[in-house]
Amino acid sequence: MPVKHTILAAAVAALLACNAAAQTTPATEPWMNRALPAEQRAGLALGAMTQEEKLKLVFGYFAIDIADKGYQRPQASRPQSAGWVPGVPRLGIPDLFETDAGIGVASQRGPKPRQRTALPSGLATAATWNPELAYQGGAMIGAEARASGFNVMLAGGINLTREPRNGRNFEYAGEDPWLAATMVSAQIRGVQSNHVISTIKHLSANDQETSRMGVNVKMSDRDARRSDLLAFQLAIEQSNPGSVMCAYNRYNDFYACESDYLMNQVLKQDWQFKGFVMSDWGATHSTIPAAMAGLDQQSGWPLDKHQYFTAGLQEAVANGHVPQARLDDMVRRILWAMFDKGVVDHPVAEGGPIDAQRHEAISQADAEQGMVLLKNDAAPQGGKLLPLAPGLKRIAVIGSHADIGVLSGGGSSQVYPRGELPLPGLGPNEFPGPLVWFPSSPLKALKERHQATFTFDAGRDPDSAARAAAGADVVIVFANQWTAESLDASLDLAERQNDVIAAVARANPRTVVVLETGGPVLMPWLAQVPAVLQAWYPGTSGGPAIARVLTGEVDAAGRLPLTFPASLDQLPHPQLPGQGKGPEDRWDLTYPEGAAVGYKWYDLKDRKPLFPFGHGLSYGEVKLEGLGARLDGKTLKVTFRMTNHGQRAASQVGQVYVAAPRGRWEAPKRLANFAKASLKPGESRSFELAVDPRLLADWDSRGKTWKIAAGSYQVLLARSAGDIVARVPVKLRARTMDLHGR
Ligand code: BGC
Repeated sequence: MPVKHTILAAAVAALLACNAAAQTTPATEPWMNRALPAEQRAGLALGAMTQEEKLKLVFGYFAIDIADKGYQRPQASRPQSAGWVPGVPRLGIPDLFETDAGIGVASQRGPKPRQRTALPSGLATAATWNPELAYQGGAMIGAEARASGFNVMLAGGINLTREPRNGRNFEYAGEDPWLAATMVSAQIRGVQSNHVISTIKHLSANDQETSRMGVNVKMSDRDARRSDLLAFQLAIEQSNPGSVMCAYNRYNDFYACESDYLMNQVLKQDWQFKGFVMSDWGATHSTIPAAMAGLDQQSGWPLDKHQYFTAGLQEAVANGHVPQARLDDMVRRILWAMFDKGVVDHPVAEGGPIDAQRHEAISQADAEQGMVLLKNDAAPQGGKLLPLAPGLKRIAVIGSHADIGVLSGGGSSQVYPRGELPLPGLGPNEFPGPLVWFPSSPLKALKERHQATFTFDAGRDPDSAARAAAGADVVIVFANQWTAESLDASLDLAERQNDVIAAVARANPRTVVVLETGGPVLMPWLAQVPAVLQAWYPGTSGGPAIARVLTGEVDAAGRLPLTFPASLDQLPHPQLPGQGKGPEDRWDLTYPEGAAVGYKWYDLKDRKPLFPFGHGLSYGEVKLEGLGARLDGKTLKVTFRMTNHGQRAASQVGQVYVAAPRGRWEAPKRLANFAKASLKPGESRSFELAVDPRLLADWDSRGKTWKIAAGSYQVLLARSAGDIVARVPVKLRARTMDLHGR
């Protein structure tokens, strides 16, 4: 390059750098001092902001074009993503770039979805009962969020499974507050380890999709504090998320995003939550009531009817309907999250490197450990079908596109695979479609691992499937249930899948069923089928994960994070509530089970489910032994041992339940803690688990205290809620504790 041009180029570069510097903040501004606590930095930055800048920070935009509303996403937002909130560049406060959700960096429907690594479903991760894996998964998807230019991840779904037909169960972590909080908090910590804000959601009781905007959930404080709200409370304590998303539904007559009880009283006052509450997309319905009830940020414009948190809020503040201090509090909370989680100090940019191979391995490990071997009886001709014996000559694989890939759940959390969709054009044309299969074929992965000759049948026609099955040494039938946001599911497998399984089992009793479902399904063919593997939505690397569990390269290590009902009439609501209601209809929903969610309901009513909470078989023989319980000061400590008495490495989950005298609690027993381990043959390991005292207590709504009643309790060591291996009594003294169990 000639010298003259070099000088010119240098001058232009210097000018550009100068401009950039004028826009960014000198690192000397007091709120940029990393040595100060986040609270202080937030206060300092707030003090430097104009009213206009404050108002910008409390209003978020959807980051897709919506033609029928004449809406175009803001230029600065990331295309096909969940949201964008402008920052204050003058002060060094970056924009918020928001992406869904809990299984990876999702993309909204559109021409160019991001291609990212998908974890198995949230339920699958919960089924690992392994918080370390949940952390690693969270850290992995958080890293992909950062590399994709996002600093807010809408991950942390923790709505309890009250309704097994809820179309979003796959995004959540099951029915038990302690298990869900342990797993979801680990995931949130993982996400936030990337200096990305995580968003626990949806506060509260958004426990079904049918008429989710119209439903008015009626729940007493006492029931909620021991169930849905307990899950939130524990998870927030254990992970300190930057934000909380309030839900679509109404809650005790108020929209969740207008609920003073949920946001001001419980979340901010009782739990001392320091971050901000963002609304779900389309869940803000007012300015003054929402602001005064504790909503800090309106999300997802233009999904709401009005821009409640722009000019309307400005006017409400000017007129004193919303105090200036409330607006300042909203902004301070948003800034606190940004400083505390490192969003300000570690700016994000698009196009960062992603180590796909490493990330897919993390997803695969999660999927493998989350698969639940529901049944593994001896087959009529010979021993157990799983793990697949090495000498098998002919294996028939049937159904569910097992030759192509594995299914995922639909809606806003949809992650798209790398490469083209292997089965494009399936499912609804509009949200929550499309139906996405990850190109990770279980059949292919099996072929890579097993010498047998494989045949494949699509599994659409019972006769054809039966012909394919006849004469095989083993048949593996895959079945699926697609579930998605905005729709609730049926517990009956769709199309002719039940008929196909029944026909296959008749043609060949050596049949294994593999289920890729959002949650539980009914299994009318169960008695005819010796082996069933619950694979959930197993994510990006589901094919090899399924194959490795089937062949026994890894143990079957998952345990159910929710009960599988034997029939609909076992449920608190045999009929799915809210059917036929229009989106604007308001209707009341009460939960007959109260705080007795999931297995607690079955215990209370003495109902025997198809498979109980916590259930899952292993290929090995790790026994639970040596149960002891003692009070260490005020803390109940439970000890036990796991010993591998078998010939192969295997895993086990030691589940500790505590039972109260009948009638004292909402249900006979509660999960109090658990530990998972994988042991070599002959290995023995001891555990000592502390029990959070709130799990031994009842909630007193008046005094806002937890109360343990004096008496004799039972500590149970169990393989599942329905399979107790030992029990010891423990005497507890009466005790009253504060909100935090202290
Ligand atoms: C969902 C949220 C999601 C948001 C943004 C809503 O439809 O309920 O979970 O984070 O959209 O995509």
